[in-house]
Amino acid sequence: MVRPMLKEIIEDPRLAWTPKNLQLPKQILSLPQKSVNEIAAIAWRMNSVPEEAELTAEQIKHYKQSLANPYNLDLPFGDLEAKGLLTSTREVLQTIRKDELDDGPGFAIVDLSQTGLNAEQQTNALIVLTRMLGEEFVPQSSGLLLLKDVTSRGAEYDTNPDARYSDTREGGNPHSENAEGNVTVPYFGLLFRIQAVEGYGGESVIYSSRAVHNELLKRDRSVLERLYQDFHWDSRVSGPEGRITIKKPIFSFDPSRGIQGLECQYLRKYIDDGYTHSGTEMDSITRQALDTMDSLVNEKSPLALIGKAQPGMLVLFNNLAVLHARTTYKDGTNPAENRRASRVWITTPANHHP
Ligand SMILES: [Fe+2]
Repeated sequence: MVRPMLKEIIEDPRLAWTPKNLQLPKQILSLPQKSVNEIAAIAWRMNSVPEEAELTAEQIKHYKQSLANPYNLDLPFGDLEAKGLLTSTREVLQTIRKDELDDGPGFAIVDLSQTGLNAEQQTNALIVLTRMLGEEFVPQSSGLLLLKDVTSRGAEYDTNPDARYSDTREGGNPHSENAEGNVTVPYFGLLFRIQAVEGYGGESVIYSSRAVHNELLKRDRSVLERLYQDFHWDSRVSGPEGRITIKKPIFSFDPSRGIQGLECQYLRKYIDDGYTHSGTEMDSITRQALDTMDSLVNEKSPLALIGKAQPGMLVLFNNLAVLHARTTYKDGTNPAENRRASRVWITTPANHHP
């Protein structure tokens, strides 16, 4: 099948950035006081969103309604915005989305640590700010998990074939969120709460998938062409007939959307497992394409931007414009001090109409 492919180099260094030309400090933004005040004021409204739990019965009812009609989100946000309570915050977010996530490097760091917002209010900020990037929350489990606690659950790839990256201490595997699922997640937010002790890993690693695309185009067009074709992906979920695998490409391009139409989704481990679970032998062209991809996205690559997010930093991502990972980390002996972040996925109406 011939699929549209971007055949030109992306020249804009803010879009196809490398660590050499991207100033990390410039990506760290502070929230204007007006917006901090708005988020602090609505804290009472969000108290019903627990740290990590299924939603309340009433919220589930609302959520099911909103799933039936994804454009009528019937969670408290509608009320809040209708009452003009988040006007400044929405302006801030629209600017971040346009300048940093869509027409910029694909990520931005909002530093909440100096705002005076407490941990609960920071969670509200994560939910409100990420929600404003799109239209609809994406559940992060087969249930209705809105807010995922990203922390080690003792899961390891070697011993547990269902282990998810977010539940392990493993590093590497640069990826996009929900790459193994059917619902595309265009944006997500990750709020760092507790970081690994200095010297124990846990650094964030970010790659511009546009820069990766440029590099592939320069090196070997046939590899890039393969990456626009389908791969088997393990969904990490089993059904009545065994493991569910899906087929989709790593790169796709919709020319009608310009550079925004270039999308990248990846996680090598889930693709390797997808071939195993679907009983498909991986041919040499496929393996070579994946290996070439991995030679560009790894911690030693000149394309890897590495930095340690501090507690209170909220990182907003364009999930289809950058790949992210972390370095392998270790926790100490006190579980209460384990590395921990909170995560929200969001989708947009465009993703309901592929
Ligand atoms: Fe992730």
